[in-house]
Amino acid sequence: MRFSAAAAAVLAIPGVSANLHQLAVGAGKKFFGSATDNGELSDAAYLAILNDTKEFGQITPGNGQKWQFTEPSQGSFSYTAGDQIVNLAKANGQLVRCHTLVWHSQLPSWVSSGSWTKDQLTSIIQTHIANEVGHYKGQCYSWDVVNEAIDDSGVYRTSVFYNVLGTDFIPIAFKAAAAADPAAKLYYNDYNIEYSGAKHTRALEVVDIVQKAGARIDGVGLQAHFIVGSVASQSDLTNVLQSYIDAGVSEVSYTELDIRFSSLPASASGLQQQATDYSTVTKACLAVAECIGITIWDFTDKYSWIPSTFPGQGAALLYDENFSKKPAWTAVSSVLAAAATGVATATATTIATPSTTLATSVVPTSTKTTAAPATSTTASSSAAARWAQCGGKGWTGPTTCVSGSTCTYQNDYYSQCL
Ligand SMILES: *[C@@H]1O[C@H](CO)[C@@H](O)[C@H](O)[C@H]1NC(C)=O
Ligand SMILES: *[C@@H]1O[C@H](CO)[C@@H](O)[C@H](O)[C@H]1NC(C)=O
Repeated sequence: MRFSAAAAAVLAIPGVSANLHQLAVGAGKKFFGSATDNGELSDAAYLAILNDTKEFGQITPGNGQKWQFTEPSQGSFSYTAGDQIVNLAKANGQLVRCHTLVWHSQLPSWVSSGSWTKDQLTSIIQTHIANEVGHYKGQCYSWDVVNEAIDDSGVYRTSVFYNVLGTDFIPIAFKAAAAADPAAKLYYNDYNIEYSGAKHTRALEVVDIVQKAGARIDGVGLQAHFIVGSVASQSDLTNVLQSYIDAGVSEVSYTELDIRFSSLPASASGLQQQATDYSTVTKACLAVAECIGITIWDFTDKYSWIPSTFPGQGAALLYDENFSKKPAWTAVSSVLAAAATGVATATATTIATPSTTLATSVVPTSTKTTAAPATSTTASSSAAARWAQCGGKGWTGPTTCVSGSTCTYQNDYYSQCL
């Protein structure tokens, strides 16, 4: 962890309440952020929290920068939806993780249904990226250049891009993005690559493919759509984060974190397990210096994507549907506060601020007296499922995971018992 004198100074001011982004920065991270979407911005109570830069220092547009909206027909570009969110972030002084350029889903049919030669599809990708990344040049901290190129069995996902170009579409996209905005960090982004397994191994290969093609790849984005009680161990999460750094990218980030209940309503003990799971993910990021931040996939259960995609599931976020902070919020803020305090204390002799002042002001009273939830209910002891994004929709196998069960495919997402 790196020490940030500026952050420590802010945190040391008595009366300044410590919120998630502020604490993350104090712990040496670049941001704690949230995805958002256009339709939610008319909700004033929602917007007041999203706007709070002590809470969220970074925003990701949930949909507006996807191909279906930005180039709905060939050569016709529209940035209205994306601009609304990028302009909001700019007005607030929040970083933007721009999302996403080449993805098999939410792709207009003029692309997905065309019969393209390699040259034609290469040109289509290059034109799309040059236009979109050019439009947002200088405004994106990073771009998710390629999203979800690997399916859940760990092989390359069939898509128009892969079918026509093989894996070449990946470096083609990275080269085009680098040319259009040399300052933006370029990411490969995917789910179920947060823990060891076939998909993680393939994601390392993606990094290698881009590098061997002579293109720049700065980061790997780990989406982290998890299920309560099924999160991998902290050491596995940390080792996997580190493996991408060892493969040669300069940073990693949890980009779409949410931890959902696979059945509702959530019980009190379930909410404590969720808090433990969020702590585990936060600690994994804290343990790797190059993990620059955490983005949750919206912050309130009111606007989560989960219930519409995985019917019957949800309650995945840090704030409930009424904008009350859940036990998971307290757990994340407590873990971040402990790290921020630890960093400051360790370097207290080098700064004017007494460490005791920092320590007492940085930790909210409520979190100081709330012990981290016991870990006695840790999941995945035996061959338990680690179903992540794929865990609900489309699953037609047994209710209890049988290791090695086959995949089903429905509505863009595989379900697999891992
Ligand atoms: C949110 O921030 C934007 C941009 O700074 C501002 O125009 C808007 O009034 C804010 N809304 C609320 C509810 O805080
Ligand atoms: C949110 O508020 C409504 C109305 O008061 C209530 O029925 C609901 O249970 C609340 N939700 C939660 C998660 O507490």
